[in-house]
Amino acid sequence: MGEKAVVLMTHELPEEWQGDTLNEYQVVLAEGGQKGITARLRDRLADASGIFCLLDDPIPAEILHNAPKLKVVSNLAAGVDNIDLDACTELGIPVGHTPRVLTDGTADLTLALLLSVARQLPKAAEDARRGRWTSWNPTGWLGADLKDSTAGIIGLGKIGYAVAQRLSGFGPRLIFTSKHPKPEQARILNAQQVSLDELLRTSDFICLHTALTAETRGMIDKSAFQIMKNSSILINAARGPVVNTDDLVKALETGQIRAAGLDVTDPEPLPPDHPLFRLENCLITPHIGSATHQTRRSMAEIALRNLVAGLTGSPLPHCANPEVYQST
Ligand code: DGY
Repeated sequence: MGEKAVVLMTHELPEEWQGDTLNEYQVVLAEGGQKGITARLRDRLADASGIFCLLDDPIPAEILHNAPKLKVVSNLAAGVDNIDLDACTELGIPVGHTPRVLTDGTADLTLALLLSVARQLPKAAEDARRGRWTSWNPTGWLGADLKDSTAGIIGLGKIGYAVAQRLSGFGPRLIFTSKHPKPEQARILNAQQVSLDELLRTSDFICLHTALTAETRGMIDKSAFQIMKNSSILINAARGPVVNTDDLVKALETGQIRAAGLDVTDPEPLPPDHPLFRLENCLITPHIGSATHQTRRSMAEIALRNLVAGLTGSPLPHCANPEVYQST
């Protein structure tokens, strides 16, 4: 029997999620608590047949070029902006990802953030805890209504669509942007597809659901904040760099927009002394869109299936660069 193929894992999965899936492989784990392709993993790149990584583990071309035996990169995430996808495709390496299973969890979290920010839940809860709830106050802790507002969704992919479905129950006028015309989805949602400019100018709530690409990086910047309503609330549960962080700080500080709810930031994690944490009109959660027991377990199962498929030379069940199969 030959030697076991080597799999580099940047993060250990719970045993009950992994089961015996990787028993036939030699798994090399990153040093406890360290992130990315650490020294221990780098030492084994030359032997590696598979890499199992997380969304915040950068996998640049340089890593790939140092891994001549690499057959698959499996990302425990739907987004693959941490991986040099073009380099993988050029080298014939399929990249696995975990779409769909996190749609509902992420949409739920988006709504939770939006409602918390709109109704100032963190401040209200903190005030109650700190003894500032001295009477029922007719003018205290006033928030924004969703009913009869305009809610704008930037990017009507699966998550954007699921957010729109949930939002429609609250009675706003729904508008959205998308790279392609989506008349059928617009009809079903009773929503209107508009330009980015119109969405930014007219929305009371703006939810970001675009992938991070060269085109969307920094899309919400100074010029976007300038045309947004002063009363608008921005929710980002997509990728941090879609928003220019410095411009966001200024927009929140100067009242150019009312508030923001961020499940993703740039950088990530956001350092505890970052100015965004000092702003009362900004609620930040640590990238937990998909963090439910069932969703994370399903993501792990898919990521492991992708990994094993790549290692055994089968097509990945969920491949982020399917063109790899045409080019080889
Ligand atoms: C993803 O999978 O891309 C999400 O951001 C993680 O929840």
